[in-house]
Amino acid sequence: MNQYKTVFVTGASAGFGAAIAKLLAQNGYKVIAGARRRSKLEELTASNSNIYPIELDVTDEKSVSTLLNDLPDDLKNIDVLINNAGLALGTDPAYNCKLNEWKTMVDTNINGILNMTNAILPSMVKRNHGYIINLGSTAGCWPYRGGNVYGATKAFVEQFTRNLRTDLSGTAVKATVIKPGLCGNTEFSNVRFHGDDKKAAAVYQDTVSISPEDIANTVLWLLSTPPHMNVNDMEIMPVCQTYGGLSVVRNLDLNQKKLETNSML
Ligand SMILES: NC(=O)c1ccc[n+]([C@@H]2O[C@H](COP(=O)([O-])OP(=O)(O)OC[C@H]3O[C@@H](n4cnc5c(N)ncnc54)[C@H](OP(=O)(O)O)[C@@H]3O)[C@@H](O)[C@H]2O)c1
Repeated sequence: MNQYKTVFVTGASAGFGAAIAKLLAQNGYKVIAGARRRSKLEELTASNSNIYPIELDVTDEKSVSTLLNDLPDDLKNIDVLINNAGLALGTDPAYNCKLNEWKTMVDTNINGILNMTNAILPSMVKRNHGYIINLGSTAGCWPYRGGNVYGATKAFVEQFTRNLRTDLSGTAVKATVIKPGLCGNTEFSNVRFHGDDKKAAAVYQDTVSISPEDIANTVLWLLSTPPHMNVNDMEIMPVCQTYGGLSVVRNLDLNQKKLETNSML
């Protein structure tokens, strides 16, 4: 029997969130699946009646609390919150980025998690029962060109999860940050490159990357760990990916007047 019954997954209309919602529903969990695109969520519901779709913008503080109040009674006690909704926009170097895109990443990847956690965590602590799983990224640990604000938001997610766990000391409520590296078969790069599917596909060319199902299986396993065990932090990369190491530019001309711009790809 599952230790937890009701799971809220944000960003469930695509990628990791959809795979997590599907797998958990297949394994007997009641899943509240939130995202902005209702039609995509309804496709999920059609595949399993354990999935309850909810149109949700995690950046909208007011609607987050209203939606939670409006949940059917049998779904009101949320045992597991999976803060998965998130996005990256662009890979331009910091000096060429659009401020509004930086702000959208901060709003979704940071404020979104804060809105959801603030609304749901108190009831977990009150019942002394619950689990928060946050989706960070290797980008939050290891810088790469063009990762600037995306990486910084994911560093926040890692540190926030550690601090949550610290505040949860003395309770049975768990918290884990999952930090995936290169993952294919999601919309992540299509969103990052503003719908340029060719550029998005090039990110995964000639690689065997992590799949959304790998992440869903990781979540399923985390939820099955015994009550006395908390996994604090999980960094997951495909075997074809590893650290780049520090770099040194030789013969750097510090007096050069015109700079070439760099990007990740
Ligand atoms: N794929 C990777 O390589 C990778 C690696 C490391 C970490 N991650 C992280 O893993 C998480 C999931 O990524 P993914 O690869 O599955 O991306 P994805 O396929 O693009 O899915 C992102 C999900 O987030 C939802 N979302 C975006 N903004 C939202 C908002 N304001 N309110 C509610 N939902 C919102 C999207 O749904 P709607 O558009 O319908 O709202 C979608 O369901 C993200 O936090 C991402 O940063 C991904």
